[in-house]
Amino acid sequence: MTRVATPTRVATPARDATKRTTRCRWLTRPRDDDARRRVATNAGNGRFIVGGNWKCNGTRASVKTLIEELNAGELRDVDVVVAPPFLFLDEATETLKAPYEVAAQNCWVEPGLVDPTHHYDSDTGAFTGEVSAEMLEDLRIPWVILGHSERRNLFNESNEFVGKKVAHARFHGLSVIVCVGETLEERESGKTMDVIFAQLKAVATEIDDKEHSSWGSQVVIAYEPIWAIGTGKVATPEQVQDVHAKIRQWLADNVSEEVAKATRIQYGGSVNAGNCSELARLSDIDGFLVGGASLKGDDFVKICNTSAVHYKAIGRKPRSGSVVTYSFDEDGELLETK
Ligand code: PGA
Repeated sequence: MTRVATPTRVATPARDATKRTTRCRWLTRPRDDDARRRVATNAGNGRFIVGGNWKCNGTRASVKTLIEELNAGELRDVDVVVAPPFLFLDEATETLKAPYEVAAQNCWVEPGLVDPTHHYDSDTGAFTGEVSAEMLEDLRIPWVILGHSERRNLFNESNEFVGKKVAHARFHGLSVIVCVGETLEERESGKTMDVIFAQLKAVATEIDDKEHSSWGSQVVIAYEPIWAIGTGKVATPEQVQDVHAKIRQWLADNVSEEVAKATRIQYGGSVNAGNCSELARLSDIDGFLVGGASLKGDDFVKICNTSAVHYKAIGRKPRSGSVVTYSFDEDGELLETK
């Protein structure tokens, strides 16, 4: 009987750490000017970023309609990343107009891989049903969401596994939205920050390097309390600001001040067109990761445009060259101006 050889994974030899972020040049362009601009608040200095996580939703027809709605919206000084299911990534890439960018909702790394150099050079092979970061790189998908609580909980993804995935994706030049967050039980027993710090540490362990080049504007942290996801129960502004400020402090203490400033921290969990303005005013919210409401084009565009509310709250002027003028009513609500 002829036996078909199973491809084997060979750990990559050590290489210069700086090569990790230069390997995929088309994906590693500077992402925004704001990342280098310091502001006189505790806030980060990154550009507001909103992600739309479509999860396992969509038909050909509904995806076409949603993309049309998104393309019809006008976005104001904001990075926007939408994450369709794998099957629709190509269509979204082809049909969404700038500034929309596209993310995969997951990618693969071999969990048992021992690779002390953390370079994860190749992960294609006999992994039925999986999609590798190499494939995303090949298809020019610029972003990937990793460590979503649905993957951690439904598919038993450990902190360490998520950390490896982040490092692997970064090696392939992908920008990453990495999700962290606690269960209700963990919050009620006072363990929220312990849980989140352990999740962050697993990422930092894998992508740490001398230049911290794997962090900054290309690793976004999404704080998503599990009890708020898909439940309609949004965290209070105080709860969100408290956790975000502590995440930023953790980055300052454990990675670097520069990374703490440049890292965008999103809030996710029942964000919708009605509650986004109040949350966007918080100084340490640098954007949102939106599930259910990202499936409604108009609502999602409105959520994205709360970037203006955020910049006003932290005293940052809109970018020069912006064609949009911002104005606000007496309550600080953004007015629909163009
Ligand atoms: P939700 O999902 O907005 O539907 O709560 C957020 C997420 O899971 O990313």
